[in-house]
Amino acid sequence: MRDRWGRPVIGLRISVTNECNLNCFYCHHEGCLNDSRRMSPQEIEKIVEVGTEFGIRKIKLTGGEPLVREDIVDIVAAITKPKIEEVSMTTNGTLLAKIAAELADAGLNRVNISLDTLDETTYERITGRKLLHEVLEGIDAALAADLTPVKLNMVLLAGVNEHEVERMITYTSERGIIVQLIELLDAGGKNFTTYHRNLDDIEQSLRERAVAVRTRRSMQARRKYILPGGEVEVVKPMHNSEFCMHCTRLRLTPDGHLKPCLMRNDNLVDLLPHIGAGDLEGARKAFAEAIARREPYFKGAAREICVPRSV
Ligand code: 5AD
Repeated sequence: MRDRWGRPVIGLRISVTNECNLNCFYCHHEGCLNDSRRMSPQEIEKIVEVGTEFGIRKIKLTGGEPLVREDIVDIVAAITKPKIEEVSMTTNGTLLAKIAAELADAGLNRVNISLDTLDETTYERITGRKLLHEVLEGIDAALAADLTPVKLNMVLLAGVNEHEVERMITYTSERGIIVQLIELLDAGGKNFTTYHRNLDDIEQSLRERAVAVRTRRSMQARRKYILPGGEVEVVKPMHNSEFCMHCTRLRLTPDGHLKPCLMRNDNLVDLLPHIGAGDLEGARKAFAEAIARREPYFKGAAREICVPRSV
């Protein structure tokens, strides 16, 4: 099923909890406000089953921090279905070392690990915790458990970690990890203008060094730079109408609402009551409604090509 802009829905990004053991000052909390209810592994399984009827083939588990849930292995096992081509997880990595192999056995295919710095003091400044060492162990464990390709998410923060890009590229390319350089998104915090770092100059220098550049349309038109030693992806969401035009994901909040867009909370569709009551028809209607409510957030100059079609 496609939305009014002709975009298919391929990915479901499931936030399994709002809880996190870190407190990164820039975090957008996946756009989730509260979680008065918490989905069980069985409920998540049902939701994924219905989602596959609408074209969902990729699942990303997020949080908060997904690994603070004690039943995370059960959740992964529950959503490993023949129609699901990829199950991945975005984690801060601090709790990963012990559980990586078990997650892989349960069906997790790969991980994105959030790591903005390789410097202990800067890590504590960003996250509020002294856990860099644990994250580095988590990365090694993910590689050992073949949760690959491992991707490292580095959000660029002006005056904080912008000088660490080269160090991060060296660290990741030595290990066969893909690094994603991510532009800070305005999460409504008061410090956005202080920390926002435009990525254009970094991207230009990558372009000059790259042996190949690929644009991945299905991944929101992200650019991938193949360097002689490694791979770097650049994610620039702010005011990027191309980014939104190629968005193929739907989100699920920890309390079971379908969420058509990271940036909005005024168009959620409550799904969990239908799942709880075994009302599959109601659940299908909720999915159809959430897809119908999908709308590019940054339309910008692409307004003309963003002509809505009838569903
Ligand atoms: N801007 C950009 N990316 C963010 N993330 C969290 N908050 C923000 C923000 N304000 C990303 C980080 C993390 C993932 C869960 O979300 O890259 O890895």
